[in-house]
Amino acid sequence: MNTRNMNTPGWRYAAPARLLHWLMAVLIPVMLALGWYMMEIEDDPGSDIYFKLHKSLGLLLLLLLAARAAWRLGHRPADLPASLPSWQARLSRLGHGLLYLGMLLVPATGLAGALLSKSGVAFFGLALPRWFAPDHALAEQYFELHELAAWTLAGLVVLHVLAGLKHLLLDKDGVFQRML
Ligand code: HEM
Ligand code: HEM
Repeated sequence: MNTRNMNTPGWRYAAPARLLHWLMAVLIPVMLALGWYMMEIEDDPGSDIYFKLHKSLGLLLLLLLAARAAWRLGHRPADLPASLPSWQARLSRLGHGLLYLGMLLVPATGLAGALLSKSGVAFFGLALPRWFAPDHALAEQYFELHELAAWTLAGLVVLHVLAGLKHLLLDKDGVFQRML
């Protein structure tokens, strides 16, 4: 590992950024798996509990994202190592921007669809007020977008993990360790 990078003050992400990153990095794949599982068991008796859990965890992820974005706006990470080609630094900024966008659009489209559906939304048992009359056709359109956004986010996460592993195993430039 490049020890010069590691000794740069503020090289690592601060503890709140790391905590939120890894909490969301665990919860998002859980939510993807839960969403796909729900679609398998949609019409089975007792499937309701999975939908309730999915909506509650999804709302929790929205709250975590708000905290993370607020923190991030006030705390810029250290510059990437000068050894990294500038196109890779630009691609990394673009990728992180798209991940943030995905982390917003996926739950936002799910929430919009759920608020328009007959079953509504509750946060771990606490029912959210009904802002709209149920509209099945519109809800279905939001769920189409929710599915598309979820697939796109899953693809971005795979690329992101591969990029992280490239820094850890090939570049050995300490970039991976910024998030540990
Ligand atoms: C990061 C957060 C989230 C992820 C990764 C996620 C992921 C998914 C996935 C993969 C599906 C299956 C899509 C399909 O194959 O059709 C799904 C379905 C669903 N999600 Fe989410 N979701 C998230 C947040 C939310 C939120 C916040 C809500 C509502 C409050 C929500 C409500 C739903 C509902 C109701 C369905 C079933 C849609 C249908 O019946 O077609 N999701 N979600
Ligand atoms: C759902 C999964 C994940 C999402 C949504 C995600 C999202 C992000 C975002 C948005 C950033 C930029 C942080 C910022 O500058 O504000 C970031 C940084 C980072 N992530 Fe992830 N991440 C995920 C999973 C992972 C995993 C599994 C790894 C391990 C391979 C990883 C390794 C890293 C590293 C090393 C950084 C720092 C990159 C740098 O210093 O430029 N992430 N992640």
